[in-house]
Amino acid sequence: MSTPVTKAVIPTAGLGTRFLPATKALPKEMLPVVDKPVIQYVVEEAVRAGLGDVLFVTGRNKNALENHFDRATELEQILHRKGDQTKLHKVEESSDLADVHYVRQGDPKGLGHAVLRSRAHVGDEPFAVLLGDDIIDERDHLLERMLEVQGARSTTVVALMEVPPSQAHLYGIATVEATDEEDVVRVLGLVEKPEPGSAPSNLAIVGRYVLRPEVYGVLERTEPGKGGEIQLTDALLEMARDESVGGVHGVVFRGRRYDTGDRLDYIKANVQLAVERDDIGPGLRSWLREFVPSLEE
Ligand code: G1P
Repeated sequence: MSTPVTKAVIPTAGLGTRFLPATKALPKEMLPVVDKPVIQYVVEEAVRAGLGDVLFVTGRNKNALENHFDRATELEQILHRKGDQTKLHKVEESSDLADVHYVRQGDPKGLGHAVLRSRAHVGDEPFAVLLGDDIIDERDHLLERMLEVQGARSTTVVALMEVPPSQAHLYGIATVEATDEEDVVRVLGLVEKPEPGSAPSNLAIVGRYVLRPEVYGVLERTEPGKGGEIQLTDALLEMARDESVGGVHGVVFRGRRYDTGDRLDYIKANVQLAVERDDIGPGLRSWLREFVPSLEE
């Protein structure tokens, strides 16, 4: 029996330079998608999958993030006095969500380095890593499926998605072989952000991982790779080749993922999630029907 996963690690130390000037004083994870910060979607996903212990690996500007997941007593009192239960609930929701912890990354030396900073908190058990740039639709159960595969196979699991060849250079790319389960593959090779045109496949790692704790030992000796950073992908390649840690498996995800990592995708994510909403969805849909034909001159 493998140890059940209870902890989620969420690296949030990126500089968010693609969103300057919005991210000058605000962490990019606090940018709203519709009316909720990106990071809250990610924490909600972890909690839905049963991971109520959340560790943020933070960098600069962590105050807004800490405040968001803390009580806002004054605001709560005002809303309480006004009897505005709906808004009060929205304020309380994020502070009641999870058992939240923080560790600073210090020097931003890459994703692998950020994950290594979680070692003291996580200890010797498997754990999940969720990257804040991706929102997975709550109707699709990617993380739950990954946890199931991790439990059954005692392995390390990454989320994989097919991407167009023109996008492959933006991701860690996996070469794989089939298993006896349709949505599970065995990872044979991994390369972090291959040069355009040289990707060995179109299966990209999207930002969800369930890692065995042996990853820490591997990360400690992982040399800086692509971009001079300590890459999680490089550590996972070593684990994929190591039978004694169960190798690495991928869950191939075919559901709805919203990328908030660059500006165009961020705008798309806002529109996609807003049209689904009961409150503003109908209004946005009818406006889009008028607006889109006006673009076709
Ligand atoms: C990171 C990982 C990459 C992965 C990607 C998913 O890159 O290094 O392997 O494919 O997340 O979003 P980043 O997007 O942080 O540059």
